[in-house]
Amino acid sequence: MKDAMIIDTHAHYDDEAFDEDRTEILEGMKEQGVGTIINAAASMDGCRRTLELTGKFPFVFGMLGVHPDDVGNLTEADMDFIKKNAAEKKIVAIGEIGLDYHWDIADRKIQKHWFIRQMEVAREAGLPICVHSRDAAEDTLMAMKEAHAENIGGVIHCYSYSREFAREFLDMGFYFGIGGVVTFKNGRKCKETVEMLPMDKIILETDAPYLAPEPFRGRRNNSAYLSYVAEKIAEIKGISKQEVIEKTSHNACTLYKKLV
Ligand code: NI
Repeated sequence: MKDAMIIDTHAHYDDEAFDEDRTEILEGMKEQGVGTIINAAASMDGCRRTLELTGKFPFVFGMLGVHPDDVGNLTEADMDFIKKNAAEKKIVAIGEIGLDYHWDIADRKIQKHWFIRQMEVAREAGLPICVHSRDAAEDTLMAMKEAHAENIGGVIHCYSYSREFAREFLDMGFYFGIGGVVTFKNGRKCKETVEMLPMDKIILETDAPYLAPEPFRGRRNNSAYLSYVAEKIAEIKGISKQEVIEKTSHNACTLYKKLV
């Protein structure tokens, strides 16, 4: 267990939004209270860039997987690549994977195929999954039940559904990634979810460069802003911000065993 520094469990520092100042930003994190960052891949190129980042920065870990928007051209050779590299000591999960019916970029059948296939890769690799699910609650839950995700474990990233669905994912033992949305004025649903979630199922995430919390909403996000997210969760839960940081970091280490 690391001391109580923030763990950003989901960020995209391989994104071109950080091309100008990536090293500077990442190297400034420790002094802002962020001890560990997990870079989430979203494409096959993203997987390669994530591996590079984990090789370059001691405090950057990674997850490998392909986002539902980008599964259109996936092959079994890509699955072999992911599985092989999942054995690297700094790769802690398979993600982000899932279903996105909001943008509907890849055909829904194809999305479902690769979601289930990547869950199998996670099972074979012995790693948890990080699930992206947008406007697809029912199908996500069905696919996860089909793949017996309760035996794989993982997190629902940027959780955006009702409390009823939250209960279903909780029953499967899943964690919930909470980020900037909880600070939004129109983030009522997210606040209600945080209210009902047990503290031992919440982990912090930015999804940087996206979803910056208030008062930075709309700007480029970075892991240091998680301080504002922790503060909001503390307010909702009636505990201290430091307690939120301690508990969420402890949870992250419980879920992602290779972090310790
Ligand atoms: Ni993401």
